[in-house]
Formats: sequence, C-alpha cells, structure tokens
Amino acid sequence: MNNIAANIPEFQSDLPPTLWDWELMREKDKNMFIRCSFEELTYEIAQKYWITKNPHGKALDICTGIGASAIAMTAAGLSDVTAIDIDPTALVRAQDSANALGMRNIKFIRGNMLNLPIADKSIEFLTALNCLYLTNWRGLVRAASEIDRVTQLGAQIVVHLVSAQTPAFQKAKNNRKDMIDDHTVLGQSAWGINDRPEPLCYTTEAELNDLFKNFDTKITHVPSASGHSLGYIVLGEKTK
Ligand SMILES: C[S@@+](CC[C@H](N)C(=O)[O-])C[C@H]1O[C@@H](n2cnc3c(N)ncnc32)[C@H](O)[C@@H]1O
Repeated sequence: MNNIAANIPEFQSDLPPTLWDWELMREKDKNMFIRCSFEELTYEIAQKYWITKNPHGKALDICTGIGASAIAMTAAGLSDVTAIDIDPTALVRAQDSANALGMRNIKFIRGNMLNLPIADKSIEFLTALNCLYLTNWRGLVRAASEIDRVTQLGAQIVVHLVSAQTPAFQKAKNNRKDMIDDHTVLGQSAWGINDRPEPLCYTTEAELNDLFKNFDTKITHVPSASGHSLGYIVLGEKTK
C-alpha cells in the first residue's frame, strides 16, 4: 500500500454487518440459494456477453455468500474471478463448493463491501446480488461509490437492490415504524445470527440512477430473494 492510500481513513459503518446462520438456512430451506441467488442470470450474462468481451477480464462478486455467482462466472468461462464476503464461514463453504467442482482459480477474499480490498479501476465485470441493501442509506451510498471506484471504463455490472415500492416499506414509512433513516427499515431476519434485526435499505428508481450515475443502466423489476420485497436488477455499463 502506498502512503497516499495509507492516509485515507476506512469508511466506518454505523451498523454491524448482517451475518447469516448458514446451518439454519440449510435446514430451513435447502433450495433457498438455488432458487434465489440469481446465479442463472449471472451465468447467462457471463456466457453471452462477458466471455465474448474478454474471457480474461477481472471479475468480482461482492458478498459472494456461498459463492453462487462467482462459481457461475467461472462455469461460464471467465478465468480471473475474485469473490468477497465479510463472513469467513460463508467463504469456507464457497471455497469447498468451488473445490468440489474443480474450480481452483477463484480467489475468495474476506472483505467488506463498504471498503473493498480491490484496486481502483481494476474490475471489468462485477456482480452484487442479494446484498447491497443490507445496510443503511449511508452504507448503500458508500457501497455504490466503492463499485464505482473499483470498476474501469466500459465495465459491466449486475446489481440487485430492493424497491421503495415494496408495500412493507411504504407501510413502515407511513407509520415511521422501525425506520433508522428515510430509506432503511430494521426487520426480523429469517436467517440472521442471534435473531438480530437486519437493515433493509430501499431505493426508488431515480435514486438508483443517481447511485450509479456513471453507468448506463437497464433496470428490471423482480422479487427479492426472500420474496417479501420487490427488487431491481440493474445491468450497467460504465460510461464515465
Ligand atoms: C443474502 S446473502 C447473498 C449471497 C450471494 N450474493 C447470493 O446471492 O447467493 C448476503 C451475503 O452478504 C454478506 N455481507 C453482509 N454484509 C456484508 C458486508 N458489509 N460486506 C461484505 N459482505 C457482506 C453476508 O455475509 C452474506 O454472505
């Protein structure tokens, strides 16, 4: 690390990260991540577009969990995939799954989406699925700016967020119940460790375009992983 980087303070979140009880998740719903992780979408995009663009381009999966998207990118043929998660338990599972598939090249790294351990402008392909909203508004703005920082011009991203049109969010907003800022509701996590309430940060389409203003975006509305929220899949190409 050079001196300039050493002098930049890390972003300090005002919330602890949301961690999952992976064992509980597996017991309760074995198919949760098969149905909900968008790995098929990652595979399709990587195979159709990214391989043709540059099979050796640097790819990053943020909040990889048990590695679904990173594995999908590798299965599609990308050769330089890095996957990051804050939870070491998830990373062990992700690594085990990759090993079982004979995928020895994926780099699994412990890291925070709010302070990505990744060089500026180094990433050509990026996925951030089922995760960017697991923070408050300040954190989401930071996570989007980290995505902007690490991606190069022409980079393509697939990002998933939850929509402010979700009825539960509208209700919380109207009643000012369980809200910790104008965008974020603290709710009960289905899988969280110690039943700690989990933040869900909701955005409008206009805010989303502002968060990713350096990207040309296409937005599709989809249900979220839990099925309780409406979500956006954002396909973006960096133009600035
Ligand atoms: C719902 S899982 C999604 C996993 C994966 N992206 C998928 O779609 O299958 C959310 C993941 O985000 C990770 N996570 C939560 N907060 C994080 C943070 N601040 N930085 C990095 N990872 C984080 C959790 O450990 C968990 O693995």
